[in-house]
Amino acid sequence: MTGIAVVEGDGIGHEVVPVAREILAAVRPDLEFFEVEVGYGRWERTGSACDEETIADLKSADAILFGAVTTPPDPGYRSALLQIRRALDLYANVRPIRGEGVDIIIVRENTEGLYSGIEWTEPDRACTVRVVSRRGSERIARCACSLAAARRHLTIGNKANVLKSDSLFVDICRREAARAGVPCTTRFIDALSLDILMHPARYDVIVTTNIFGDILSDTAAYLVGGLGMLPSGNIGERHALFEPVHGSAPDIAGQGIANPIAAIRSAAMLLTHTGDPESAAVIEEAIDRVLNAGIRTRDLGGNAGTREFGAAVLREVLRGKA
Ligand code: NAD
Ligand code: IPM
Ligand code: MN
Repeated sequence: MTGIAVVEGDGIGHEVVPVAREILAAVRPDLEFFEVEVGYGRWERTGSACDEETIADLKSADAILFGAVTTPPDPGYRSALLQIRRALDLYANVRPIRGEGVDIIIVRENTEGLYSGIEWTEPDRACTVRVVSRRGSERIARCACSLAAARRHLTIGNKANVLKSDSLFVDICRREAARAGVPCTTRFIDALSLDILMHPARYDVIVTTNIFGDILSDTAAYLVGGLGMLPSGNIGERHALFEPVHGSAPDIAGQGIANPIAAIRSAAMLLTHTGDPESAAVIEEAIDRVLNAGIRTRDLGGNAGTREFGAAVLREVLRGKA
């Protein structure tokens, strides 16, 4: 029995995750789901966004389907998502960007860099330490190289012209690429952010440090219709969490208009990760057929609601399975 922890989170997480879960359950009736509450809503209610017991529940799952959590600009609040990524050691954030003329995978280091958690505030300045470790860089480089080995090439997104920490990152990625026999080039992250928009076909697998990967993936979403489209996998040696790249979208939450594609694709990534790429393909093809039929949510210029779009995908999934 495969156990899937389901975390809706906050905001549109409550709208897109149930849609993705229903589709997942339809393709794989054998999956067992259990809900785990995490996020700002829980923090407001109980004073805790995520605790040790929550982490233990998440660790007990074979995989986690996650929505999005709100991170308020409150100095006493630390994102539950960052806590989970760290506690489960989900070091690789894999973000595929696929669409017309675009087939890119951003592999974002997910546990260190500017998200090291080493920071302090003084009266007249605040400091955050950017940590790039050999171990952290080697493991993300190996993950990116193993993906690139089955594809075309690797680009190392960096700012080594300024940051010593990125010189180490680039050296390690280069060495791992040579070892894996993967052709690789380096690009400075500022120029890369523009070039990925102007010449997306130049890019295949991109490996980069934590915050650069965060920003680059939202930027690259422009190529395929926006944030409603991008899924991700947060993957470690023992655990894995799948979630949309987007956040809780408070500006549209509660209206039933969020695009559920990112969440549905995250569910498909979960299936591939747990050894069922065939069911993942059924879901991906169903999404394509619905889009080709002209059914779209508002962000894509249509007028379908979240549930209506999800129901259309579900119909296609059931047809694909039959
Ligand atoms: P966001 O991704 O939530 O929203 C950015 C813009 O994209 C908004 O205009 C939103 O309406 C739109 N958008 C996002 N997803 C959409 C969808 N599925 N369909 C249609 N439109 C969509 O980013 P933000 O506004 O910067 O952040 C809001 C909150 O979410 C913050 O508290 C932030 O910390 C949090 N956040 C959480 C995660 C996560 O849990 N993985 C990721 C990013 C941001
Ligand atoms: C993401 C988000 C998170 C991040 C936030 C919500 C902590 O933006 O997953 O892309 O910065 O990693
Ligand atoms: Mn982000």
